[in-house]
Amino acid sequence: MSIRTTITGTGHYVPPKVVTNFNLEKMINTSDEWIRQRSGIIERHYTEGGVGSSDLAYEAALRAIEAAKIDKSEIEFIIAATLSPDYYFPGIGVLVQSKLGLNEIGALDIRNQCSGFIYALSVADHYILNQTYKKILLVAAEVQSSNLDFSDEGRDMAVLFGDGAGAIILEPQENEENTGILSTHLFSDGRFCSDLWMEKPSPKDKPTFFSTILESKRFFPRMDGRNVFKNAVEKMPEAVRAALTHNNLTIEDVDHLIPHQANDRISLMVARNLKIPVEKVIRNIDRFGNTTAASIPIALDEAVKEGKIKKGDIVVLTAFGSGFTWASAVIRW
Ligand code: ACO
Repeated sequence: MSIRTTITGTGHYVPPKVVTNFNLEKMINTSDEWIRQRSGIIERHYTEGGVGSSDLAYEAALRAIEAAKIDKSEIEFIIAATLSPDYYFPGIGVLVQSKLGLNEIGALDIRNQCSGFIYALSVADHYILNQTYKKILLVAAEVQSSNLDFSDEGRDMAVLFGDGAGAIILEPQENEENTGILSTHLFSDGRFCSDLWMEKPSPKDKPTFFSTILESKRFFPRMDGRNVFKNAVEKMPEAVRAALTHNNLTIEDVDHLIPHQANDRISLMVARNLKIPVEKVIRNIDRFGNTTAASIPIALDEAVKEGKIKKGDIVVLTAFGSGFTWASAVIRW
């Protein structure tokens, strides 16, 4: 019998305010048709002022804790993945710890953007396999809507992003069916750092907040869309193939592929490159937009709650994003 890290509860939360493509047409020089054709997005959720990613993470965490049927006081460690923390520092892990009213347990923030959830999953898996912790809360949360460039210069990105959070509880389980996390594979190539980034504010500038920072507009996220697309549709399939080979599995063994919901065209191209039937690909970007680190756990929670994912199913996760970083994970549910 083997010990595996098992996801015993999932949850997600998105803020109530829905922003449709038609709403965006009033704020941005864009159209519903352009957004749907290029990304598959129909609507996304935006927070109101005063709400941070730690608030969304807290709500998602409560739902995951309830689903895992544990008491929150049993959580021994928190891992939080976000590129949009409430503050420059500290990270949101400590804020989630205090909002939940937990003991003085460790709280780790992960900064791997769209790949953040799988990077965090890998860290959690190793802590559990090393028997360091028995119950870990992993939250991934983003508030992107506060820092989007709604001018023509930034509209390619502004239409893509939404706010939201996903959370899971991880625990060790010994079982004959060999269910749980089978592997995680992590990759990066920092040569492409500036192809998808938010350059400012940067401590490389002295002072960091120079007087013309607002006019420079370099504090908005920017991407080289073509290079992101090209690399995303190559690197995610590569990561999935590496994971399947590692586990002696084939594409035919995969029951569900959950790609980071970057852009539906990217997800469909990843499926095509892998020759995996599109019905096996979990896609919800039409309703949430791209929620960066939170997109995979939101999609996972929906698929679990809808009963799509059943015990024994092989679930493959893959992500690609800023860094560039990319990753995959295989779970026998
Ligand atoms: N609404 C209307 N027009 C827009 C918008 C918008 N929101 N954004 C850009 N455009 C315009 C551009 O200004 C340009 O106009 P021009 O031709 O007059 O100069 C035109 O649309 C470019 O459109 P395309 O012909 O589709 O250009 P291209 O082939 O370069 O594709 C695109 C651009 C759609 C961004 C493509 O590169 C892409 O899909 N990349 C993937 C990027 C992505 O989805 N990233 C996800 C976020 S990052 C992550 O999660 C990994």
